[in-house]
Formats: sequence, structure tokens, C-alpha cells
Amino acid sequence: MAAKKEIKEIYSSLKNEINHHNFLYHNKDQPEITDVEYDQLFQKLLKLEDEYLFLDKSDSPSSRVGDTPQSDLKEFIHEVPMLSLDNAFESEDLYDFEKKVFNKIKKQKLNYSCEPKIDGVAVSLIYEKGKFIKAGTRGDGEQGEDISHNVKTIKQIPLTLNGNNHPKKIEIRGEIYCEKTAFDKFNKEYLKTDEKKFANPRNFVAGSIRQLNPEIAASRPLKIQLHSLGYVDQKNFFKSHQEMLKTFLSWNLPINPDAKLVGSIEEVLSYCEKLTNKRETLNYEIDGVVIKIDDVSIQKELGFSSRSPKWSIAKKFKAEEGTTEVLSVNFQMGRTGSLTPVATLKPVKLGGVTISNATLHNMDEVERLDIRIGDFVKIKRAGDVIPKVIKVEKNKRKNKNRKIIQPTHCPSCSRPISFFEGLTPNLDLSKLNNDDRSCYGYSQFKENLKHFVSRQAMDIDGLGSKTIDQMVDKGIIKSVKDLYLLEKENFKELDGFAEKSINKLLSSINNSKSIKLSNFLYALGIKEIGLETSKNLSRKFSKIENIFSASVDDFISVDDIGEVASANLYAFFSDKHNIKFLDEMINLGFDLKAEQVISHISKLADKKIAITGKLSSISRNKLKSKLEDQGVKVVSSISKNTDYVIVGSDAGSKLKKAEALNIEIIKDENLDSFLMQNEN
Ligand code: IVH
Repeated sequence: MAAKKEIKEIYSSLKNEINHHNFLYHNKDQPEITDVEYDQLFQKLLKLEDEYLFLDKSDSPSSRVGDTPQSDLKEFIHEVPMLSLDNAFESEDLYDFEKKVFNKIKKQKLNYSCEPKIDGVAVSLIYEKGKFIKAGTRGDGEQGEDISHNVKTIKQIPLTLNGNNHPKKIEIRGEIYCEKTAFDKFNKEYLKTDEKKFANPRNFVAGSIRQLNPEIAASRPLKIQLHSLGYVDQKNFFKSHQEMLKTFLSWNLPINPDAKLVGSIEEVLSYCEKLTNKRETLNYEIDGVVIKIDDVSIQKELGFSSRSPKWSIAKKFKAEEGTTEVLSVNFQMGRTGSLTPVATLKPVKLGGVTISNATLHNMDEVERLDIRIGDFVKIKRAGDVIPKVIKVEKNKRKNKNRKIIQPTHCPSCSRPISFFEGLTPNLDLSKLNNDDRSCYGYSQFKENLKHFVSRQAMDIDGLGSKTIDQMVDKGIIKSVKDLYLLEKENFKELDGFAEKSINKLLSSINNSKSIKLSNFLYALGIKEIGLETSKNLSRKFSKIENIFSASVDDFISVDDIGEVASANLYAFFSDKHNIKFLDEMINLGFDLKAEQVISHISKLADKKIAITGKLSSISRNKLKSKLEDQGVKVVSSISKNTDYVIVGSDAGSKLKKAEALNIEIIKDENLDSFLMQNEN
């Protein structure tokens, strides 16, 4: 048998060889060997790893195929906050930006680095001594989620940086995205098996990188470009942004090929114009240009506001507009029983996306626009939002163009529209006493159920729209109450459920029983009752039983609630069927928590507290919400007005600042006793 040292050398050179071919294939689009030859090298690597357990596999190309699912996404603390960018829409905004900068610094001439603003999902990569350590999402800017297992499957990312001039620790930021052609191809295939499509490449990426099972990310065509710096442990490591981009490239990290240095705002504007013209031809979506002052010493002088760097700005593209013809107008019955007119349009391409529908919102809008079938209309699309009709080209109108008339009956179930007015949400099919599968009896129940489980409502994870449709169609769920009676057996008839996902779903359903009263009230889907109003209701009534017995006047006395909302609430909670049904449901073991009335009894009320570092016993989000319940203002940056700083492990610059300002520091291990002491 060869000596250990020799095997290690063979292994290391094989890793390098595979990494080199990965780079040529994924970053350069210039493979030098065939797929078969690549597979042979890879098999050789796997065999060595299998045979010799002493080999260090942490940076092996085999560790990126995505085979170990996570049980939960771990926290990812950002060493330096992951901020956003200020937006400019007009050229004037760019001149204003420059003027502000000139007022602050001595120079009157600046170089700007311009680059496409990729419409992807932000990511932060940590490398230590050139080795990939982990990757995280933006989250709230201070704390995101660890998505290393998925990011490692993106073959463009080197697990070991090329070259040798690497800092001890560096946080490099960029955007994960998906090319338009790859997205269309994936979506077409996906539709065949899942009867579902991803709305756009960005949603697709966002959904892929937060998966627990890395096999999913590994099977999806994800790409990355790096564009900025989070943290680096050496002062003045990069002198300019351009130098940084060049260094990234020399480390084999992909950057945008259209990044360019220019010497004035006029040149920035001309770059923006050129990129606007090029936009259609790019194989990835962009939504503007990011402009950065190139000189790092000037960046440092300008610093950051709480939201964004003062040395950078994003010039957003204008919303796209186009003209097309209205083919027909259909009315859709919504969850709350209102009809929405939707125009079917002759398909037209706006910014690379084919538009064939536009919402007309309601009949008031139809009348305001005076829109008719056959009219030519100007439509506008901004970002992800559903396109809007902004104007009717009246000069192109023909006499035969027909007016739009609000239907008197529901287009799907033929009930008179008046039937839906004043209707309370349908959460229980047995209320109908028949097998009615029309929209009220059926589709509305499904839509209510989807709303009931949604994030801001009962927050039940793992029940997608398709599963809900199936469960209702198969009669497994006939009322929201049935969710709480589900057993493993029920999943036999459903597609796509394995033991693990069933357990997860059942535990998520069970956990939802101790959700806040406000989320529960919001989940009921009563017309006009949004989350904020639900919080006010919860503060006022504390218990669901008190709501059952409330009068219209009791409801009106709640903040934010007017006559219509109060009538809707009263109608819902005085309906005998609803009371009985909710009563039965709550008796299944619900423990709904009332919103804390922010009182000054807690000693911490009105105090300003910052949290930094990783805490051992509680997640930062949970601690934040716990503190906020006591009236604490949780702040993200530290100033002399901060009362306490709660410090976990790996705390960075905030701890130093707190010490410098003499702010009381609460260490992780003392957190429980600190919270207890301050309880009322
Ligand atoms: S630089 C402090 N460069 O757009 C933020 N960001 O809307 C510095 N983005 O948070 C970021 N392309 O996630 C930068 N070429 C680019 C970008 C880019 C897309 C994203 C990024 C940023 C967001 C702001």
C-alpha cells in the first residue's frame, strides 16, 4: 500500500485537477475535457475518499453534490450589516447624489464604478485563509440564515480560492441568480411533473437556496456573481472597488463582465443608457445600474447611513410600458367575495416578460379609465407587480368596442352577486349542507384555507396550494378544524409526502395551536380585518371568548375599526354556526396568546437594547420579539442612548463600540437572569 503522504498528494492533485475543470466548464464556458473524462476523474476521487478515511474532504468537489439534508436552517450572523442601496430614478437624482458627496469631501472629481444591478438573491460568502467556510442570506441585514449546504452546490464558487494573497477572513457578497433560458427550460420541465410554475427567476432562486435538502439546489441551474465586500480582517486590503473586482476574478470568483470605471456623472448616465439598450440581450434579469465611488478611502470617509452606504446608489430602470389590445374582460371571485375585473390582453413583451393579463382592480377603476373590449391600452409593469392599465388610447377606439358590464351573477356558480355581499368567510364546508362544488362552497373554502395556513396567519409550514386543493378534493379536509385532526394515514392518498415531511407538517400544525390570538383572528380571513387590526382586537379583548360576546359598539371602540369592519366582525362572531365550530376547534387544545399590552410595568419598557453575536439559548429574532413584548425598543446600531447591549459569541465591532461608550453589557450566559430580574 502506498504511504499516507503519497495518497494525500495524489488526492490533493486530483482535487486541484477537478477544480480546474470545474472552473473551465462553469466560469469560463471553455471545457478542455469531455463529460465522460470528467466523470472518470470524479469517480477516481470518490473511490479514494471511500478507501482512505484520513483524507480531508472538507473542500472536496464531492462535498458539493448536495447529499446531506439539514434539519433546520442555522443562524448566520453578519460581521458587518448587509445593507441596501438608495435608489435614483432620474438623472437629477444622480447629480444630487454627487453634490451631497462633494459637500462632504474635499475632492471635486470622482471616479465611479458602474455595474448591472442583478435581480437575484443576495448572498454572503465567508472564506478563511482562502477556504470556503460558509454562506448566508441577508435576512434582516444583521442575521440571515446559513445556506452553505446549498451554496456549495453552485459549481462556479471555488471551495478554495485561486492564488495565495488571501486575507485570514473575508466576507464576500454577491447575487445568486438564474439565467433566463435556463429558467424557462426548467419551468417547462417542472410544469410537466408538478403542474406548477415559478413566477420568475428571482422567486425560483429564493425558493431554491432556502431548501433544507441540498439535492434540490444541486439540481437547479443556479449561478452567482460577486460584487461587494462585507468584512475583511486587514485594513486597506483593497484600495479601490475596481481593484477588488479584479482580485475577485484572480481568485476565480465570477464577477459581472460589464462592470466599468467612468470619470463623471455624465459618463454614468451614458453607461446607464447603453445598458438599458443592452438589457434585452442579456441572459439574466437586471433592474438598474449600481454606481459606486471607486476610491475606498473616500468610501470610508463617507460611511453609511442605517440603511445604505453613502458612497453608492442604484439607478433603477423606468417601469416598462407598452401598448396592446384588450381581448376580453373576465371577473374573478376572490376569497372575500368581491369580484375583480381582469383584462385579457393580446400578448405583448415588456422587459423580456410576455404580458397577457392586467388587473383592472374594481368597477370604479373600469369607469375611471372608461375601458372597452377591443380598446388599445397603455400598460405598465414595474418589477414583480401585476401589470396595470394606465391609459386607454381613445383615438384608436372603434364604434364596435363594447362597454364592460359588471355581471349580476357570479361567473362560476351563477349565484346573484348580492349573495356574496355581507358573506362571512367560509371555513367549514358542512355549513353548506349540500355537495355544492361551485365557487362559494368550494373554491372559496380552499382559498380561505390557504389564507388560514399562511405565514402571517397560522404559519403552518409544508402545506402548499396544490396539497390543499388535493386534500379538499379528496374530502380529507372539510373544515379548517380538520387540519387539527390529521393523522399520518391521511397522507397515503397524497402525492409528494414522505415520513419526514409528514412529521414536520403535523408538528407545524400542532405548534400553531399556541400562536398569538392576533394571528388566529387574522387567519379567519374576515373582510377588512388585516394583521394590524387583529393585533388591536387582541389587545382589547385578550381572549377569543370575549370576542364571541362583543357588540358592534365594542368592536367600534377598538383602534382602527370603523363601521364596516365592525359590522363584518359582528356578522362573523354572531353566526351560531361559526361560534359552535370555533368553540369545538379551540377545544382541541388551542392556547391563543393575547398581544402583550405594552405596559410600563416591565422595567425594560422604553429601554433601547441592541443585540449582537450568536446567542446560545434563543434565536435573535425570538429574543427581539420577547423584548418588544415588554416595550423594549430593539435597536440595530449602538449610540450613547443605547441602554444595554446583549452580547453572544462571535460579537464584532458592536461590542467594542459598547465598551467604548460605557454601555452596560449583558453576556449570553447572564441573559436569563437579566430577563428575570427585569420581569414585573
Ligand atoms: S453593491 C451595501 N452591486 O441590490 C450594498 N449590489 O437593492 C452594496 N445588487 O443589497 C451592494 N447587483 O443585493 C451591489 N452590482 C451590484 C448589485 C447589487 C444587485 C443587490 C444587492 C443589494 C441590493 C440593493
